[in-house]
Amino acid sequence: MTTLWIGTSWKMNKTLAEAREWAAGLREHLDSGTKESACPHASATSTLAGIQPFVIPSFTATTTVREVLGEESPVLLGVQNAHWEDAGAWTGEVSVPQAKDAGAQIVEIGHSERREHFGETVETTRLKVAAALRHGLTPLLCIGESAEVKDAGGSSGFILEQAQGALEGLTAEELARVVIAYEPIWAIGEKGRPATVEELVEPFAALGAQHSGKVAGLLYGGSVNLDNAAELLGIEHVTGLFVGRTAWQLPGYLELLRIASAVTR
Ligand code: 13P
Repeated sequence: MTTLWIGTSWKMNKTLAEAREWAAGLREHLDSGTKESACPHASATSTLAGIQPFVIPSFTATTTVREVLGEESPVLLGVQNAHWEDAGAWTGEVSVPQAKDAGAQIVEIGHSERREHFGETVETTRLKVAAALRHGLTPLLCIGESAEVKDAGGSSGFILEQAQGALEGLTAEELARVVIAYEPIWAIGEKGRPATVEELVEPFAALGAQHSGKVAGLLYGGSVNLDNAAELLGIEHVTGLFVGRTAWQLPGYLELLRIASAVTR
């Protein structure tokens, strides 16, 4: 059975109290699922059969969310960025070893907001993917084209190039630890509009032809909501969802887990 990755980045949102509340609610939900299970030895993972949940808070909330979820949580914890060097004179940056020390297991790399506002390039994404792998963390590589590129018919070529540039030189074993999230810029956030299934079939066919079965996951992100989640998960080669707004309130995230769970059955 293919594992479906269902995760959220909180972007630059949530106080520590809000982060704690979200994480505690999720833990409670998973623990209560365990208790209701017929099998006395069931773990939270049995309520998550076939699903890999993950949450990516702001750096400030990393240790808080780790503590609230617990060390043994089936929910993977990530950071939204990390530097490619392990340490040094890089004011304002956080390294992969520091993120790992704070409890992170995933490093998000190359989100379009970071490419647009913070100068992330194909080369920096390549260095960051390598850094995450070097320290045993999962790189979550985000790729996606602008509306202009899409309108010119260049979506697939553009995202394949972004992925190829960031993953250049990796061994098959390293590639197998990478998760790719395709997030078209025109579909992300308040200014975005939900992509239709028809619009996503071709880019995922292209990504699938290149990466399916070779990487740990091929996720879709951008205006995922409770109405389109199931059909997005039905697109060939899609093995998960990377969600912003819909998952920032816990009930939305729990509903996404339920939808994914129904898809895996
Ligand atoms: P939205 O789901 O809010 O469009 O955000 C998607 C995203 O950018 C996740 O990284």
